[in-house]
Amino acid sequence: MALVNGQFLKLSESYLFSEIAKKVNSFKVIHPEAKVIRLGIGDVTLPLPAVAIDALHKATDEMATAETFRGYGPEQGYRFLIDAIIKHDYEARGISLDPDEVFVSDGAKSDTGNIGDILSKDNRIAVTDPVYPVYVDTNVMGCRAGERRENGSWSNIVYIPCNAENGFVPELPTIRPDVIYLCLPNNPTGTALKKQELKKWVDYAIDNDILILFDAAYEAYIRENNVPHSIYEIKGAKRVAIEFKSFSKTAGFTGLRCGYTVVPKELKAFNFAGEKVGLNRLWNRRQCTKFNGAPYIVQRAAEALYSPEGRVQIKSMINYYMNNATLLRENLKSIGLSVFGGVNAPYIWIKAPNGLTSWKFFDRLLYERHIVGTPGVGFGPEGEGYLRLTAFGKLEDTKEAIERLTTWII
Ligand code: MLT
Repeated sequence: MALVNGQFLKLSESYLFSEIAKKVNSFKVIHPEAKVIRLGIGDVTLPLPAVAIDALHKATDEMATAETFRGYGPEQGYRFLIDAIIKHDYEARGISLDPDEVFVSDGAKSDTGNIGDILSKDNRIAVTDPVYPVYVDTNVMGCRAGERRENGSWSNIVYIPCNAENGFVPELPTIRPDVIYLCLPNNPTGTALKKQELKKWVDYAIDNDILILFDAAYEAYIRENNVPHSIYEIKGAKRVAIEFKSFSKTAGFTGLRCGYTVVPKELKAFNFAGEKVGLNRLWNRRQCTKFNGAPYIVQRAAEALYSPEGRVQIKSMINYYMNNATLLRENLKSIGLSVFGGVNAPYIWIKAPNGLTSWKFFDRLLYERHIVGTPGVGFGPEGEGYLRLTAFGKLEDTKEAIERLTTWII
């Protein structure tokens, strides 16, 4: 008799964004005529940069002849992409990395979800609350979460509350965890930490033998000075942190799928005998066993983003979305809503007016204004009473959403 992983039965029926998609589909059945503006899931709307399209065409043609055809590539990624990543994303910021510390993948969602494979189920996990649901759900699947409480939190997870009182800036936890997930700039609140604030976390991790899983998927949206683009800008971070990056939001690769994870060789965790073990070797072992590398043509497209033209095209894409963020932020503030984020991140975090719950606000927004957001409580108990809008919509849709919101009597 085959037994299921019972942890899955403890999870809510669907993943947050699947649940929202279901609700929107039901709405569309009842109101087929409604023009729904989707500012829920953080999916991009602009087409791929021209350099990526050219590289895809060229690489596809290479696949058509025996001389240039590629089969299995290196599980860790092709050197042409790894070298470009190191040169532009790290050396340009004074960080040196060896090529075998960078692992190209099909995106940060997979890597942040899969990283638990190399960590014992006995680790105590800490997350900021609210948080990207993948971190918590995959730790439930990996038997590290304990039991689900009534408010949706998990008994073995340490929650670090981020709320209006602390300006959504996480404070060091009072219970010492073994592993901490940090997503900065933050999804969903849009918070970014200055170098000094992030240094506090790195020092805490060094002093307490804690592993930081640093999700920097939104790094390209940082606008303010002194906000680190990589955790390795902080001295000592290579000893305590794994960093995840993605081309999804940086270059519109949500459908193409490519990202990378940095596992420094000096980063160590412990075995049960209390001996230090390098995580780089374990992640390499995991990837070689379970992953056959991101597609060649996709890696060529990612490489092209680092060309001078590619960098200009990406910048203009990010400016486009950040203009949406500014429009949302300023206009929603002007009608008296409490709005956070949208400065170093493409997310706007809104306090639901009149004490509405997240889901009530979501429903009313959908049914009365035909706008899709993401209920804050879907990101954790502290998100209750909030809703997230993304800046990844088309400019005209964003403007129309603002128009619908500013003329709304809630
Ligand atoms: C989000 O909306 O939070 C993101 O699109 C989810 C993701 O990147 O997987």
